[in-house]
Amino acid sequence: MLHSALINVMVAAARKAARSLKRDFGEVEHLQVSLKGPANFVSAADRRAEQILCGELAKARPGYGFIGEEGGRQEGSDKTHRWIVDPLDGTTNFLHGIPQFAISIALERERTIVAGIIYNPANEELFVAERGKGAFLNDQRLRVAARTRLAEAVIGCGLPHLGRGDLALFRTEFAVVQEKVAGLRRFGAAALDLAWVAAGRLDAHWERDLSPWDMAAGLLIVREAGGFVTDLDGGDDMFAKANIIAGNEAMQRALLSLIRQGTKS
Ligand code: IPD
Ligand code: CA
Ligand code: CA
Repeated sequence: MLHSALINVMVAAARKAARSLKRDFGEVEHLQVSLKGPANFVSAADRRAEQILCGELAKARPGYGFIGEEGGRQEGSDKTHRWIVDPLDGTTNFLHGIPQFAISIALERERTIVAGIIYNPANEELFVAERGKGAFLNDQRLRVAARTRLAEAVIGCGLPHLGRGDLALFRTEFAVVQEKVAGLRRFGAAALDLAWVAAGRLDAHWERDLSPWDMAAGLLIVREAGGFVTDLDGGDDMFAKANIIAGNEAMQRALLSLIRQGTKS
């Protein structure tokens, strides 16, 4: 499958940053035994990867704006284009030597996401989508799962933890969903969760308290794989509301209505 010049630019940047992340991931194991732990080391790895991405993308598309999780902000002379980047999604996994983490890069054009890639350096899975051109995993076309019954569904979710998110609300949502589905999963890298919905591995995914860089590439990849994506009120305001629900048409709708009914007070 031949990709556009734009996708090639994004993939080249991701592969370069991935080499750096992969080297650092190899080090994490040794650091586990040190008293200070690998946390500082990992945040340096994170920043290094973002610098590589920012530099490579700027070289290829000078003038585009840039927003990255690690603080990279560039206004850009071209006000119509903006990169939205998470250099390392799944930091806690990375820190613990769990190979479920990814680089996520999206391109926004006039407020619409037009291209997205998500790359897991640990297993070299590369998810790619361009608006109107379909979604791919390592050059294989992606399609969301065809399952339509919640009772057969495996659903991904986030999990609020120490100091993050509304635990009581999550427990309510979790309880209503838990009773109706075949399985619930929390893998720890939201970008990959969305990519896995596109690949039909997860039937749907919902999560609150996300940032644009967690969702931007993934939401396009899901849509281009034939899936449906909204915020938890059923609208298209995922970035402003900081939440998302994605799946095939039937699952997305069924899960959304379950969660909304379950949390109605
Ligand atoms: C986190 C991951 C995680 C999600 C968190 C995110 P990070 O991103 O995507 O799965 O539950 O809300 O912040 O911090 O690892 O880039
Ligand atoms: Ca993230
Ligand atoms: Ca991150």
